[in-house]
Amino acid sequence: MQIFMDSADVKQIKTWLAQGVVDGVTTNPSIMFKDGISDLHGGALSISRLLGDRPLSVEVTTNDLAAMLEEARVLASWAQNIVVKIPVINEYGESCLGVIHQLAQEGISVNATAILSFNQAMLAAKAGATYVSIFAGRVADEGNDPGGLIKDVRQWLDDWALPARIIVGSIRAVMDIQNAALSGAHIITIPPQFLPKMVDHKYTRDTVRQFVQDAEKTMKEIVKAQAAPALAHQ
Ligand code: E4P
Repeated sequence: MQIFMDSADVKQIKTWLAQGVVDGVTTNPSIMFKDGISDLHGGALSISRLLGDRPLSVEVTTNDLAAMLEEARVLASWAQNIVVKIPVINEYGESCLGVIHQLAQEGISVNATAILSFNQAMLAAKAGATYVSIFAGRVADEGNDPGGLIKDVRQWLDDWALPARIIVGSIRAVMDIQNAALSGAHIITIPPQFLPKMVDHKYTRDTVRQFVQDAEKTMKEIVKAQAAPALAHQ
C-alpha cells in the first residue's frame, strides 16, 4: 500500500519525504488555496521537483468539459509526474467520463476524483482512470460506510483485473487511515497534520524514556567499575 500526502505545503512534504513514507502527493483547489499557492504553475512545479518520479495530482478548475480537457493537457505538460485530477461529474451533474477517457487514450494519467459511490468508481475505472479517489470523510458525512465502499470497489477491481488504483482521501481522523488501509485501499492520501499523530504514542515515549534512563545507569556503573581497579592500585 502507498501513502500520499494530501497537501501543497512544501515544508511538510519535504519533512515527510525525508522520513521515507511518502509515495506521492495529491492537491485540489481548496488545498492550494489553504496552503497559500496562488501561482498554480509555480506551486505545482516546485512540488513536482521535490517528488522526483513520484506522482503529483493537480486538479482542473473548470466545469466546462471542453475547457477541462484543454486545461488537463496543459497541466499534464508541466512535468512527467503530474497526474490530472478530473471530477467524475461537474457541479451540474454532467459526466466527465468522456474527458477521463480521452485523456487516458492520450496517455495522460487521470485521478478520477470526488467519488462517493460504487457506481461512480466503477465507471471511472472503466473509462480508463489510473486512480479512483474515494472521499471517505464525505461518504461518512452522508451517513454511509466508507470501509464497505472501499472493500466493494477493491473486490470488484480485483475480480475483473482492472488496473485502476483506489486512493482514499477526505481523511478526517487518524482512525480513518487505519480503516482505509484494512478495507483494501491501494493508496491513502493523508493531510500532514495526521502523520505526527500516527507515529506518536504516549506509552512508546515512556518506554523509550525508561530505556534511556537505564542505559545511563548502566554507563555510570561501567565507568565506576573501570575506575575501581585504578583506585585499588593507588
Ligand atoms: C483528495 O484527493 C481530496 O482532494 C481530499 O482528500 C478531499 O478532502 P476533503 O473532503 O476534506 O475536502
